[in-house]
Amino acid sequence: MGNRLVGYGSYLPSRVVTNADFERAMDTTDEWIVERTGIHARHFADKKETVVDMATNAARAALKNANLKIDDIDMIIVATTTPELDFPSVAVTVAGRLGATNNMPAFDVRGACTGYIYALHCARGFFTAGMHERIMIIGAEKMSRFVDMTDRSTAVLFGDGAGALIFERSTSSYSGIIDTVVMSDGSKFDMLHGSEDHKIIMNGPETYKMAVSLMPDAARYIMEHAGITQDDIDWIVPHQANIRIIKSCAARLGFPIEKILITVDQHANTSGASGALALAYAFDNNIIKHGQLVLYPAFGSGLTWGATLIRV
Ligand code: ACO
Repeated sequence: MGNRLVGYGSYLPSRVVTNADFERAMDTTDEWIVERTGIHARHFADKKETVVDMATNAARAALKNANLKIDDIDMIIVATTTPELDFPSVAVTVAGRLGATNNMPAFDVRGACTGYIYALHCARGFFTAGMHERIMIIGAEKMSRFVDMTDRSTAVLFGDGAGALIFERSTSSYSGIIDTVVMSDGSKFDMLHGSEDHKIIMNGPETYKMAVSLMPDAARYIMEHAGITQDDIDWIVPHQANIRIIKSCAARLGFPIEKILITVDQHANTSGASGALALAYAFDNNIIKHGQLVLYPAFGSGLTWGATLIRV
């Protein structure tokens, strides 16, 4: 039992924060940020704009793109690490906002930057078991809520946004979410985590080292698991954390940079939203075409890491 991608959508808050804005707020420079991260700008939600607001906007766009109504969906999974409320879940609230009347199951997964892959992993399992017809995956984050303007080493790295993908059951096992692999190592908790007062605690150089080793590992593992080679892959859409991490992973895998989608320059690191947001950007700009095979490796707090193969 397989699945196929039938719709996508995204949402970015209207407020664009440039490196020049950070230069005015702290001891940093556009040159340092661009050289070390590749980031030029990011979107920040307004104070009142929530993860639910952003997720709902992306979901609405995906439904429109798929020409479906909310009751055509029979499960929503939201990847988020930054919900405003501990309960209920963002997924349930989005279903309510969109007027769902079918009592569908809806829940959140917290996998930090790898959350999107954890959500896709769940969806693949449900489809394989033949349990659901149409599943909407949303990645939505308000990272700006955690941005500590007294810490220049983390403040410049993150952005807000949401992306949504809709998959439906199909008889083909060569379309949609073809494979997923997800992993974790909780002993590395200290490397990158949130604090009780909503700040990001990160050992940047250690995080960098782990990212450039584990993301290629996950990519190699999933290609082997799926029985494909690099030549079968049309695009790598890596988690958008940092241009140097992306380029180093591409080099370690021997992938040409032309096959790597890059949005970190304009979106920064949107954590669990990064994958769906990047894919939506690629469709909107005619970069990735329907039918192509996309490999998405990710890495994040936990540690968590993994990869997915999607024929879009
Ligand atoms: N502007 C100017 N200088 C800065 C800034 C800034 N915004 N931030 C740090 N510096 C300074 C430091 O204070 C330090 O100065 P010092 O040498 O006088 O002490 C110097 O720059 C070098 O600091 P490092 O931390 O060693 O810089 P590094 O080259 O490692 O780059 C960075 C820092 C960009 C955070 C890098 O370590 C990195 O990308 N790490 C991965 C982190 C990441 O992407 N995390 C996201 C979450 S996980 C994920 O999504 C993969």
